[in-house]
Amino acid sequence: MKRTKIIDALASTEYGKEITVMGWCRSHRGNKNVDFIALNDGSTIKNIQIVVDAGVVDEATLKQITTGSCIGVDGVLVESPAQGQASEIQAKNITVFGGCGNDYPMQKKGQSFEYMRQHAHMRLRTNTFGAVMRIRHNMAMAIHTYFHEHGYFYFHTPLITASDREGAGQMFQVTTKNLYDLKKDENGSIIYDDDFFGKQTSLTVSGQLEGELGATALGQIYTFGPTFRAENSNTPRHLAEFWMVEPEVCFIELDDLMDLEEDFIKYCVRWALKNCKDDLEFLNKMIDKGLIERLESVVNTEFVRLPYTKGIEILQQAIKDGKKFEFPCNWGDDLASEHERFLVEEYFKKPVIMTNYPKAIKAFYMKIDAEKPMFDGKEMEETVQGTDVLFPQIGEIIGGSVREESYEKLVGEIESRNIPMKDMWWYLDTRKFGTCPHGGFGLGFERLILFVTGMQNIRDVIPFPRTPKTAEF
Ligand code: 4AD
Ligand code: MG
Repeated sequence: MKRTKIIDALASTEYGKEITVMGWCRSHRGNKNVDFIALNDGSTIKNIQIVVDAGVVDEATLKQITTGSCIGVDGVLVESPAQGQASEIQAKNITVFGGCGNDYPMQKKGQSFEYMRQHAHMRLRTNTFGAVMRIRHNMAMAIHTYFHEHGYFYFHTPLITASDREGAGQMFQVTTKNLYDLKKDENGSIIYDDDFFGKQTSLTVSGQLEGELGATALGQIYTFGPTFRAENSNTPRHLAEFWMVEPEVCFIELDDLMDLEEDFIKYCVRWALKNCKDDLEFLNKMIDKGLIERLESVVNTEFVRLPYTKGIEILQQAIKDGKKFEFPCNWGDDLASEHERFLVEEYFKKPVIMTNYPKAIKAFYMKIDAEKPMFDGKEMEETVQGTDVLFPQIGEIIGGSVREESYEKLVGEIESRNIPMKDMWWYLDTRKFGTCPHGGFGLGFERLILFVTGMQNIRDVIPFPRTPKTAEF
C-alpha cells in the first residue's frame, strides 16, 4: 500500500499534490456542508485534519468513521486556514479498513492512568502513550548510538542463569519439572538432576557478571536487555521485568566511572530534547509543567559527587536543624528514598552521585577502599567504590561500581557472605587469569524513561508492565 506518513504530510509544503494517508480517527465532527476528521497514524503526536466536503463521500461511509476506526484517505494536500496546523487534506475518497464501536475502551478523553493500565493493550493508541513509546524508542537508539560511537561492543548476556548473582533480589525460577510431582532428597531439597538444565536455574537479575567476562576480553562492552526481579515491591519505581543497560569497562578508576555515568545520562537527555520535541512539548503541557525545564537543567549542571559519609553528615545536620525523616540514617544504614530525595531535591537541588558506601550494604564484587572513613571523630567500617546516581523525582537511576580485581579479596568476600563458590568459579577466573582494574554500572531503562517523560508511575513507561499479581496482556 502506498501511503504518506502523517509526520511527513504535516511537514510537506507540496500543496496541490495528491497523497494517501492512513491511520486511526481521533475525532470526527461536522455539519451538513463539511466533515472534519482528526487522523493519527502514530508517526507523530500530531493529527492531520481531513476535510470532507458534502457529497464527496457517501453518508454510510461517513457514519462508520467513529473515534478509533481505521481509515485510508486519498486527497489533496492543502495549506490549512486553521491556526496551529500547517497543512490538511481535502479528501477525494475514503476507505474504511475497520469500524469501531462505542465499546472502544479509549473512546473517552481524560481517563485515569489506573483505568488505562487495565486496558494496556489499547492505551498505546492514546496521545500520552504514543508520546511515551516514541520517546522510549528514541532513548534505546540514544543508548546504542552513545556506546557504539564511544567504541563499546554490544554484548549479549544470558537471560537464564544458574548462579544467584549478587543477591540483588528474589529470582524467578525456570523449570520444566512437573510441579505436581517433585522428587526430593532425604533432606527435603528438590532434586534438579532431571530438570531441563540438570540444575536449578532462574531468570537473570543482571547481566553484569557475564558482562565482566566480555569486558575483560573486548576492553569495553555494554549489555541492554530485560532483567527480572521477583521482589514484592509494589512501588511506582519497581517492575518485576525491567530493561537494564550495563556498560563494563576495563582500565578505569572511580572518577572515570563517574565521568562516564554523567556523560552518558546527559547524552540521552540531550538526545530527547533534540529528537522528541513534539512529544516532550505535549507531555510538558499535559503531564508535568516543569518537565522540559528539568531536562534542560540536568544537561546544564554538573552532578554533585558525594561520599556516603559526607551524605550522612549532611542528613544528621538536617535532623539537628529540625528536619523530620521516617527512617533513621546512622552511619552504616542504607539510605531510604526520603533521604535520597532530601539530598537531591532540597539540599543540592541537582543530581548526586553517591560513592564509597559501607561494604556491608553493597554487593560482594565492589572494590574495597584503601582507607576507612572517619565519622564523628571515629574510624568506621570498610567502604567500597560503589556509585549510585540519584535523580530528582526518581531517586536511584544508576547503580554501579569499580570492581574488586584482587582474587584474594574477592574470594574473602564470597566466603564471608556465604555465596556458594561452586557457582562462581567462572567469574573468579577473570581475577585469576590476567586480572585488571575495571568497573561498570547498570541504568534502569524505565527509570530513565520516567525521568525523561515526567510520568509518575513506572507501569506507564513500559508497554506491558509486569508487577506482583499482574501479568495480563
Ligand atoms: O542497583 P542495581 O541492583 O545494580 C545492578 O544490578 C548491578 N549489577 C549494575 C552494574 O553495576 N552493572 O540495579 C541497577 C539499576 C538501578 O539503579 C535501577 O535504576 C534499576 O536498575 N532497577 C530497577 N528498575 C525497575 N524495577 C526494579 N525492580 C529495579 N531494580 C533496579
Ligand atoms: Mg542499586
